[in-house]
Amino acid sequence: MENIHAVYNGRFDNLNNIKISPLSRAYTFSDSVYEVIPFFNSLPIAFDKHILRLIRSCDALSFRVDIEAISKEISELIVKSELKNGYVYYQISRGVDPIRSHMFNHDITEETFGYVVSHTFSSQILKVMFCEDLRWERCDIKSTSLLGNIMSMNNAKNKGCDEVIMHKNNIITEGGASNVFFANDECVFTPKLSKNILPGITRELLIKKIKEAGIKVEEGEYTIDNLINAKSVWLTSSTKGLAQISEVIDQKTNIQRDHPLFKECEKLFIDSYLT
Ligand code: PDD
Repeated sequence: MENIHAVYNGRFDNLNNIKISPLSRAYTFSDSVYEVIPFFNSLPIAFDKHILRLIRSCDALSFRVDIEAISKEISELIVKSELKNGYVYYQISRGVDPIRSHMFNHDITEETFGYVVSHTFSSQILKVMFCEDLRWERCDIKSTSLLGNIMSMNNAKNKGCDEVIMHKNNIITEGGASNVFFANDECVFTPKLSKNILPGITRELLIKKIKEAGIKVEEGEYTIDNLINAKSVWLTSSTKGLAQISEVIDQKTNIQRDHPLFKECEKLFIDSYLT
């Protein structure tokens, strides 16, 4: 296997050499949070925003972390990799238990793990499926507990889809690993922040750019019908950038490929972060 630069509890090594205890609470309980930090031309995109969201996720679970040390490790992974474009995956768990127990022992120390890989930020066109959002009520925490997302996304994959668009009682929440945007000819729309969605960094960066360009953008509560009637629908994430939806399976939609408002938003994002 190729040499993937990684770091475990502050020690840098080849990913293959890292050994982890099965009593890590990441392994037994998904008692862990993570970030995916993209970098382009060897520079992280919105590094501070990713770190701030990591702090928020850690605070929600009362993890005590040395965020300065973690920030340095993430930067060092990028430098060590000598990659131009890629991302760092960084995970923090509550630690390794002496024995599995739901109620954690306050003496254990947080466990940290990160690695860096290459990634091509290319325009993707996705086929998706609507599905009921099966997840818990703290989706604002970037937790590694992603079973709801995984079940739905793999169900969609078996039907030839690349992603899902989830809804709770007909209200659109987000993608399986992305945020949702849609547009008509005049305005861009995206579900407002709530505990049912992850506050995506790409979402935040894009909304700011759209507003600065004088394009109308609205954050609110939207239904499946709103999406079906939209002229353009796209998903955003640190690895996907802006990815157009070409088709929602089993649905008749009004989606137009390369709608001018989508192209304008895509250009704003690429010019600012991926050039
Ligand atoms: N996921 N919502 C969910 C459920 C996600 O998993 C992600 C990203 C996003 C978009 O967030 P951001 O723009 O900050 O990447 C929204 C990452 C990329 C992942 O799990 O690999």
